Parts: sequence; C-alpha cells; structure tokens
Amino acid sequence: MTVRFVLDQEVIELAEVDPTATLLDHLRYRMRRTGTKEGCAEGDCGACTVLVGDLDHTHDAVTWRAVNACILFLPMLHGKALLTVESLAQDGVFTPLQTCMAENGSSQCGFCTPGFVMSLHGRSIGATGHTLPVADVIAGNLCRCTGYGPILAAGDAVEPTPQDDQRLVAKLKALAETDTVSGRFGDRQWFIPRTTTALVELLVEHPKARLVAGATDVGLSVTKGLQTIDTLIFLGDIPELARIEDTPDGLTIGAAVRYADAHDAFTRLHPDLGELTRRLGGLQVRNAGTIGGNIANGSPIGDGPPAFIALCATLTVRSAEGRRTMPLERYFIAYGQQDLRPGEFVESLHIPRPGPDDVIHISKLARRFDSDITAVCGAFKLTVRDGRTTDARIAFGGMAATPKRAGGCEAALTGRPFTLATIQTAMDALRSDYAPLTDVRGSSAYRIDAAANLLLRLWYKAQGETVSVLDLESAGA
Ligand code: FES
Ligand code: FES
Repeated sequence: MTVRFVLDQEVIELAEVDPTATLLDHLRYRMRRTGTKEGCAEGDCGACTVLVGDLDHTHDAVTWRAVNACILFLPMLHGKALLTVESLAQDGVFTPLQTCMAENGSSQCGFCTPGFVMSLHGRSIGATGHTLPVADVIAGNLCRCTGYGPILAAGDAVEPTPQDDQRLVAKLKALAETDTVSGRFGDRQWFIPRTTTALVELLVEHPKARLVAGATDVGLSVTKGLQTIDTLIFLGDIPELARIEDTPDGLTIGAAVRYADAHDAFTRLHPDLGELTRRLGGLQVRNAGTIGGNIANGSPIGDGPPAFIALCATLTVRSAEGRRTMPLERYFIAYGQQDLRPGEFVESLHIPRPGPDDVIHISKLARRFDSDITAVCGAFKLTVRDGRTTDARIAFGGMAATPKRAGGCEAALTGRPFTLATIQTAMDALRSDYAPLTDVRGSSAYRIDAAANLLLRLWYKAQGETVSVLDLESAGA
C-alpha cells in the first residue's frame, strides 16, 4: 500500500514505507527539506515541529495540529496534510508570523527557530491549542540561549491569520479511506483500521502486534531504544476511539482521544485535571499522545493515571471475546505488567463526575514547570460530610513501580474528622505507603516528603488558603 499525504497542495506518494521510518528523517534525508531540525529525537525540544492537518468531514475544513516529526511514523501521515517550515514564505514573501518574528528579533540560533515558527504559525492559523497563551504554545520548544522574550513578543504581536484550506479539503477528500489500509516492508507490516470491529479482527490475526496511537512513547523505543517492531497497528484513524462523551454522570473517553482534545472536558470535570493536562508534555506531545496510550503503556510516571485512579475511573478493554471493565488501579499489576491479555486493546476510560462534597487536589512536581517528566504526581479525592471524611482516594505516580493508591493514608483519613491533626496523622501514614526510588528526578527522601506535603497542601486549599514554605514549616512538615 502506498502512503499518500498532501504537502504544499501536492499529493506525495510513498511506496514500500518502513512502518517506523520517521517523518523527520524522510523530510531531511529523502526530501532534502532540512529546515525541520533534529534536536533530541525524542519529542522534547520541538526543533522538528511541523503541522499536520486532518480532514474535518463535518465542517469541510482542515484541523491543524503542531506535532514533533522526530517521533511520527510515516504511515501515520496517510490521508493527512502536512506543512513544514519551507511551506510558509512563498516567492520571498513572509507570512505575518515570520514578519513579526523578524521585526521582534526573534530569529536566533537558526536551530530552534524553525520549530518556534511552526508552533506560532499553528497558533496564528487556528491550530489545536490556538486559544492558549503564547507561552503555553511554545512550552514544547526549547531555546538553549534563553532568548524567549523576543519570541513571546512576536507570538503576541501577530494577528490571527486563518488560511483558506478549501483546495486542500478537496484533495484530502480524494484521499479519504473507509476500509483498513495496510502495507509491507520486507517481512514487517503495518495496518490502519477504521473501526473497532476491524481492530478486533486484526488483533485475532496478529495478537502480538504493537498498537500505536500518538507514538510519543513507542517512537522513543525506535529512535532511542533502536527497537525493530515487526507488526504495527495504528489507532489514530478510528473515530469510535476518538469520542468524548461529556454527560452529567461523567466523562467517557475513547482510548485514542489526544490529551489536547481532552483538555477542555477535563477542565470542566475539575480544574486541577485541566491544569495537569496543560503540564503534560509540550503542546506537540499533547497533540499526539492519547489517554489510552498513557494508560496502556503502564508507565509508573504517566501523568494521567494517578489522577484518574483518585477520581474513581474505570477502564474498558476489548477483544474478540468481548469487553471487560475494571477499576483503573487494577489494570496496573506490576512494573511492565498490565491486565491486558493477548488480543485485547484499551477501548475507553470512564471518570464519574465528582460530587459537591468531594475535595480534590491534583498536583504534579517536576524539575521544570513545563514539558517535563514527573518526579511525583499526587491526586487526592476526599469526600467530606459534616466535617468528617467519609471516603478517601489517594494515588501517586513516581512513588512506586506502578501508579498506586496510598492505602494506609486513606485509612488514616476515612471516618475521621477533617482537621489539620488528622491530616498530619495521615501524612505520617503516607510515608509508610511507599518506598520510592532515588533517580535523576528526585531522591527517595524528597519524594516521600513532597508526597506528604501535597496532602498538607490539599488541607490548606480546602481552607481557601495558599501554601507557603512558612505554612509547611509551622505545620511540622
Ligand atoms: Fe526534539 Fe523532535 S527533535 S522534539
Ligand atoms: Fe536556538 Fe535559542 S533560539 S538556542
């Protein structure tokens, strides 16, 4: 099968595509579009930012999103549109964003600049996340020379400049597929199913296939881990898996919903969940990474799972045998071991809407505020009635080999008065719930102290107070 996508109004056709060849390598080494740079090859620096457009059938429009080309596999582009930095200035005429960058002195080392240009160009044409502040839009673009000021100024100065995508819409419609597409490369193969039924059938035939949604994790196993993957099934084009049902009962989220697309619904569920999402990777990562992927890979430092567990989420997995639904915490059995049988896939997550008596606090601690990997992520949901905690759900990431509940701490709170004294007792209990590792993100002692202090922060937050270091010290933390 030929991979087809539209670049600068031209349909590009690629035969015999290596399923894990990255878009970045293809642009640089095959197409000689060297404006897109490689900084880290793991989705951290944004030097490789490009814009990918999906056909919006409902509105006859193109939905653009900034993504990292270094961890985007070529088959994932099938049927989509692409813009690289070379797509912008035509016949020597800058786009409005490029003009603003030139006038504000925002073009700096030349290595990171193309990525900044693409992120901000996306914002100017209404790409996903265009309503975010400029600083959030470029949080996934690293500048090593610390010259963010002129770049922020350019981003603030440029007027929104929607582009006319009607010609492109017609081209994308001509490429649209309704059935599974597949390809071979030597003895390796890839598939892009369009329905969950087709996915179930593919998994019967290929139970060991690697499922790939946004590739923000699998991409690294190829670019950094140098893994060879024999069979891949791409999940990004199954509309059933991209649904968000937002009802009075709660949220049901398809596994392939991207974090950027879930942000608003998460914020409505609880502002802390929205804020956590805002700090999950840079925008390029949230534009690719999915809720299901963040759960399915079983990482002990995934940002979503601790919050989802505290909020009583249930997970539905599916196979040819049918569906199974479980409390999310039961999915994580041990490091690298999840409750997912051969032939099963993660289908959806349900998060009940919190009640009026629920006190919720979700906090991520990392060395850098933006776009960093979690050291400790704590999530708390206490149900407080008549001054007493009737139910407590507390989960942490970064504290154990899996996202894990704090059973001792929960017991120390449940049925007790919601007071500072109880919180302090529960903080002690929490210290016995975990034996975290020491690694580059934090020592074991730091993690324990920080986790306990997050519970104290919940207390102050519930009192309507902000927390300072002095507060923590006076409380004996
Ligand atoms: Fe750094 Fe792609 S090269 S994010
Ligand atoms: Fe490249 Fe600052 S713009 S280091």
